[in-house]
Amino acid sequence: GRILLVNGPNLNLLGTREPEIYGSDTLDDVVALVERTAADLGFEVRAIQSNHEGALVDAIHEARGDCDAVVINPGALTHTSVALRDALTGVHLPFAEVHISNVHAREPFRHHSYLSDVASCVIVGAGVQGYAFAVQRLAALLAPAR
Ligand code: DQA
Repeated sequence: GRILLVNGPNLNLLGTREPEIYGSDTLDDVVALVERTAADLGFEVRAIQSNHEGALVDAIHEARGDCDAVVINPGALTHTSVALRDALTGVHLPFAEVHISNVHAREPFRHHSYLSDVASCVIVGAGVQGYAFAVQRLAALLAPAR
């Protein structure tokens, strides 16, 4: 099986961006963690990061028929994007929504997500480890017998 890892706007700055909120791991560290976690469970990973909403929508469309599930940290698009929601529901792939920080402990505009009610699971505030939890959960959903 294959998992699409999607990171949205500004997550390319991980490691240097507000480390008191997001920690010191870089995006490369996150991709490596997801690849390691997925490999242990028999899954491959395709990874994309973009600062552009449309590029993320395109990547999700391209996952149809190619990937079995999506791990997504949509960044600020979480709180604004009906298009990302529609892309994810449109391709009928189970997805895990990940936020490194505890969005519920932050500004009120971060409390609402356009994705959470259609997500398989939502992991917030677990740091970058949340990405690994997401992979583990999706792998369990996809291969319940293993
Ligand atoms: C984030 C939380 C969002 O509110 C913020 O815009 C991000 C990162 C997180 O991982 O905690 O860019 O998704």
